[in-house]
Amino acid sequence: MDPDLLNQTFPGLDLEFLGPKRSGKVRDIYERDNRLIIITTDRLSAFDHILGLVPFKGQVLNQLAAFWFEETRDIVANHFLESPDPNVTIGRKCRPLPVEVVVRGYISGVTKTSLWYRYSQGERYIYGMEFPEGLSKNEQLPQPIITPTTKAEKGGHDELITSREIVENGLVDGELWDRVCTAALALFARGQEVAARGGLLLVDTKYEFGLNDEGELLLIDEIHTPDSSRFWTATSYEDVRSVSGQRSSNGQNVVEPENYDKEFVRLAYAARGYIGDGPPAPLADDLAVQASQRYIGCYELLTGSRFVAGQNPVAERVERCLRQRFLAK
Ligand SMILES: Nc1ncnc2c1ncn2[C@@H]1O[C@H](COP(=O)(O)OP(=O)(O)OP(=O)(O)O)[C@@H](O)[C@H]1O
Ligand SMILES: [Mg+2]
Repeated sequence: MDPDLLNQTFPGLDLEFLGPKRSGKVRDIYERDNRLIIITTDRLSAFDHILGLVPFKGQVLNQLAAFWFEETRDIVANHFLESPDPNVTIGRKCRPLPVEVVVRGYISGVTKTSLWYRYSQGERYIYGMEFPEGLSKNEQLPQPIITPTTKAEKGGHDELITSREIVENGLVDGELWDRVCTAALALFARGQEVAARGGLLLVDTKYEFGLNDEGELLLIDEIHTPDSSRFWTATSYEDVRSVSGQRSSNGQNVVEPENYDKEFVRLAYAARGYIGDGPPAPLADDLAVQASQRYIGCYELLTGSRFVAGQNPVAERVERCLRQRFLAK
């Protein structure tokens, strides 16, 4: 890999000619005539902090989401209109529903709020749902489940919420929530099917939906990217499942499948001793390079196409593209 790689990352940029900028953890967003100009940067966030920059991460996320928006258009309409630059999507502006739609195909997770932790502590009624006896860590669930969370305001934490509470508290109308759940499960099934072609398992993911001015339901934000989803390689999963002693009920000594997503970085921090106390250390160079390789690998396995890096420097390229497109001549 090019040794200069880490000097070519894309932290984002200010484009005053586009008006006020809204920045999420990963994306910079401008608004134009009911459209959003969504610029995906190389910022990597985890543990509620931006840890650093990962080469080509923005391009991977943007192009992978674009791939999936096309692949799933028959299931539900989405915000994607066009991608005039490898790091930019122009999308229809929506009113986001105030919930994040998390879908899980496996019983997994490492944190104390994770499904596996709670199950391993003996709970069988979790997220407002019954779970069968005898599941082991990372086992596939009888069928995928939806475990929604509220969408927290900036700086806040997303809280678990049941489907029932969503409807009863009037966050989403009951009929609309049914449509959201049907769409989410169909998207997840499609995701698993396409991922399998590349030898990957889609473990879990998060969708966001919104309503446009006509009141239509649209899938927004991103879909089946290594930031919003967990992927395991199918071969590593089979290897792990066949290891004897795997069914240890306390989850200790469980060999983990190989991740092709952001979890890779979280696990690397844990391996280097970070247990969530205080702010995490900045992303080390070697980890940034490895993460970049994972993100690119994920793109290639899912799309079946080679990743072709856009021209450098990214910021100049993005600015040139958007000036041409939007600056009144
Ligand atoms: N079509 C759309 N209409 C309206 N909002 C959208 C649309 N697509 C994405 N968004 C919003 O844009 C933001 C994307 O930015 P980013 O992914 O960086 O945010 P985040 O860090 O995940 O969340 P936060 O908004 O909490 O900072 C999200 O808040 C998402 O809900
Ligand atoms: Mg986001």
